[in-house]
Amino acid sequence: MSTRILITQQIPEEGVALLRSAADAELEINPTPGAIWTPEELRARVPGHDYLLCLLTDQIDAALLEAAARARPPLRLVANMAVGYNNIDREAARRLGILVTNTPGVLTDATADLTWALLLAVARRIPEADRFARAGRFTGWQPLLLLGAELTGKTLGIIGMGRIGRAVARRALGFGMPVLYTSHHPLPPEEERALNASAASFEDVLRRADFLSLHAPYTPQTHHLLDAAAFSLLKPSAYLINTARGPLVDEAALVAALQAGQLRGAALDVFEDEPRIHPALLQMEQVVLAPHIGSATHETRARMATTAAANILAHLRGETPPNLVH
Ligand code: DGY
Repeated sequence: MSTRILITQQIPEEGVALLRSAADAELEINPTPGAIWTPEELRARVPGHDYLLCLLTDQIDAALLEAAARARPPLRLVANMAVGYNNIDREAARRLGILVTNTPGVLTDATADLTWALLLAVARRIPEADRFARAGRFTGWQPLLLLGAELTGKTLGIIGMGRIGRAVARRALGFGMPVLYTSHHPLPPEEERALNASAASFEDVLRRADFLSLHAPYTPQTHHLLDAAAFSLLKPSAYLINTARGPLVDEAALVAALQAGQLRGAALDVFEDEPRIHPALLQMEQVVLAPHIGSATHETRARMATTAAANILAHLRGETPPNLVH
């Protein structure tokens, strides 16, 4: 019998081509561009496949995994085309003997670049300036028009110094910004020196950062890491940038903090309840919004697709997939 692989959305062709190269693979791909299957649709479609290539928008919960484990053929591996995997019930997968893989490393630079794009956009009010110019309101250079925050010499606070946090820190060198960070895995002293970075407590980073950028994974422990108490520690002139996961931030508390002037602005690529965005954020000039596009470059998305496909192919060959999530 051929191996049955399901892909839950249309993905870059490079990944599909790699899977098609596997002898005996029967590929089924969500036929509707841009369509995201509901949990009910996933439960109807996943069981009966050996492999699932899914996206962070797919809720791979215990009920789905149990049904897929019981079916013939049983599901053997879930290849998430993302570095984050909080959409998958890993406990259930482990219990049922279903492997889970992700795509680390290949999206580090694209996500770090977008972090800086958002940081600059909110600091220099780029979307606001664009709206101003398009509205025909530019009547000439003015000394007080659309003033923003300068970067040089300001402190960049980083929460989470994994691959992406470090890539963001490397870019800070070019802007002359010292880094203050908090992480479960502090950097070795020589790397701290090279990055002009110092470790500090979570509270200290909040108190001293001029720009605060989140790069922690989303887990039950990091749920609402930034809550009302955290916002009360920020400088009123601080900016928050989130390209990690929305629920790291209590969005209602962020809205309240912005309204109370506890921080000056925020640039968000991720939201607590995607694709919903808190309506108050949509109205705020000092907030820059993006629709979860941290890894959205042609090159990176192609690498994510081929990495997810390679994890499946490795397992098919009887090898340990390179990006097993333990
Ligand atoms: C990820 O991979 O986890 C990002 O959020 C999407 O690229």
